[in-house]
Amino acid sequence: MYGSGEFPATRLRRLRRAPWLRALVAEHHLRVEDLIWPVFVVEGKNQRIPVKGLPGVERFSIDVLVKEARTAAKLGIPALALFPVTEPKKKTADGREAWNKRNLICRAIAEVKSAVPETGLIADVALDPYTSHGHDGVLGSDGDVANDATVACLVKQARVLAEAGCDILAPSDMMDGRVGAIRAALPDVPILAYSAKYASAFYGPFREAVGSKSNLGKADKRSYQMNPANGAEALREVALDLAEGADMVMVKPGLLYLDVIARVREACAVPVFAYHVSGEYAMLKAAAAAGMLDEQAALYETMLAFKRAGAAAILTYAARGLAEKLA
Ligand code: PBG
Repeated sequence: MYGSGEFPATRLRRLRRAPWLRALVAEHHLRVEDLIWPVFVVEGKNQRIPVKGLPGVERFSIDVLVKEARTAAKLGIPALALFPVTEPKKKTADGREAWNKRNLICRAIAEVKSAVPETGLIADVALDPYTSHGHDGVLGSDGDVANDATVACLVKQARVLAEAGCDILAPSDMMDGRVGAIRAALPDVPILAYSAKYASAFYGPFREAVGSKSNLGKADKRSYQMNPANGAEALREVALDLAEGADMVMVKPGLLYLDVIARVREACAVPVFAYHVSGEYAMLKAAAAAGMLDEQAALYETMLAFKRAGAAAILTYAARGLAEKLA
């Protein structure tokens, strides 16, 4: 069934001859509607604090965030993913600040939602911004993250996020059963499950940005995040999260796991989101700054790769800049 014929009758270069023709037969397109902009929120007023490992990325106080959200909405970016930078004094072993109704992320959600109601707001459900040890959950007596005790905390966190006006809850903790527990508590809120989330070396700049790097220290998240060696297991994670009530699933990191995006897309009729994670973004920026890559061309090609693999939308720190170019 695939295009039959042989050279010289078949010459695939015929359709590559001119820009208009290449555009006409392009299989995939990047649109501003495909982009989700992850943003970091800090306490204070009038704050724009750069992130060392993420050139071009700043952490905003809520007042600045509201202005940035307005601009993003004008550019057509459909949704923001908000990440709080928690003050060190508010971090505890159980991460209880996560379910404080007046915490930074809840205040940010409420203010952005009232100022820019047309923009979707996504928030992570996981304890790592709030724990003194930097893990995504609470620790058991064996020193490992305790699954079921953590799930109970995540439900409390999910409730305050939803009450604040969060449009999409994104459990990013990788505990077993957390989607089902959140779904039972909140039947109406869309859930974007970080289903295939790998224990990756590419989260470094993010952890620096939210200030969890020093909390985690030399520890790692391999007892709950997936082993980068595994692909089929991602399908099991996705199937479980969907059975538990997830509406959308995420593959993270995205760029290194395009095969996983494609497999999930084929196996399930469900929107698959890709997270172009901090380390992937940082690599591209560093290479461009060193004159090794054309930044815009490399970024655009990266986004198209996500689309070709089957991603419905892409979380990328480059969303704002890309949206300006696409407008
Ligand atoms: C928290 C979380 C992480 C990222 C998103 N949510 C870090 C981690 O799991 O340690 C990483 C995003 C990025 O690197 O851009 N659970």
